[in-house]
Amino acid sequence: MRTSFLISAENMSGNVCQEASAGSDFLQDIRQGTGGRERMAVLTVDCLELGQLPTNTYLVMNTETKECLIIDPSDGVENIVSWLDDHQAKPVSIWLTHGHDDHMGSVSDLKRKYGLLCYVSKEEEEFCESIYYNLSSMFGHPRAIEPDLFFLDRQKVKVLGTEATVLLTPGHTVGSACYYFPQEKLLFSGDTLFEESVGRSDFPGGSTLSLIASVKRLMTLPDDVAVLPGHGGRTSIGHERKYNPYVNR
Ligand SMILES: [Fe+2]
Repeated sequence: MRTSFLISAENMSGNVCQEASAGSDFLQDIRQGTGGRERMAVLTVDCLELGQLPTNTYLVMNTETKECLIIDPSDGVENIVSWLDDHQAKPVSIWLTHGHDDHMGSVSDLKRKYGLLCYVSKEEEEFCESIYYNLSSMFGHPRAIEPDLFFLDRQKVKVLGTEATVLLTPGHTVGSACYYFPQEKLLFSGDTLFEESVGRSDFPGGSTLSLIASVKRLMTLPDDVAVLPGHGGRTSIGHERKYNPYVNR
C-alpha cells in the first residue's frame, strides 16, 4: 500500500504539508536549494507501507541523478524493486533508523541484488544481528542482518547531492537514530517520534526516560521540519511541539 502526500517548494518555507490525490507519482516533491545562485538539489520522497504492521519504507531520490536512498526497507522487496524500476532509480545505500525486524525485512535481498551497503548507528549493531533484540523471533520468523557501516551521533553525511545529519535518539532501542535533512527540512524519525505519540519503550533495550529525552532533543529542530515516522502518517515538529503528550513530560 502506498500513501501520497506532497511537500511543495512553498511548504519548505513553513507551510503545512498538503495532501495530494491518491495515486500521485510522488509522496513528496522537495525543492530546496542551498540559497543564492547555487544549484538546487531536487529530491522526491516516496513512502511504501510494507510488511505486517505495516512499516513505512522511504525512497528518497535525487530527480536529476536518479540516485536513491532507501530508508527502513520492510518486507515486500518486490514492491521496492518495482518502484526502483518504475522510476529508473539507482539505489545508493540503505539506512536503518533502528534494528527491529519490521524495518529491515528486505535488507538482505536488496544488498544482494544491488550490492548496497547498509548503515545503522554503531549502538544498534547488536540489535540487527540478534534475533532476540531485533524481535524477529517474537514475530515468529527468526532472522538477522549484518550492517556494513555505522553512523555516529551528529555525523554529517553527504548523500543525494545534499547533506543529512545523524541524530542518535535512544529509547525505543539503544541505538535508534533519526536522519535530519536541514536544507529540505525533513526528519526521518523511525520509531522515536510518531504523530502525537512515540514508539514503544518496553522492548528489550528500551527506555522510557531515554525516549522522552530523545523527543525533547528533536524539539530543538524548527517548527516547519516535516517528520516522516516509521509507522503512520507524517507530521511536523511544530505540530508535535503543540500536541505530543510526551514533549512536556
Ligand atoms: Fe521498532
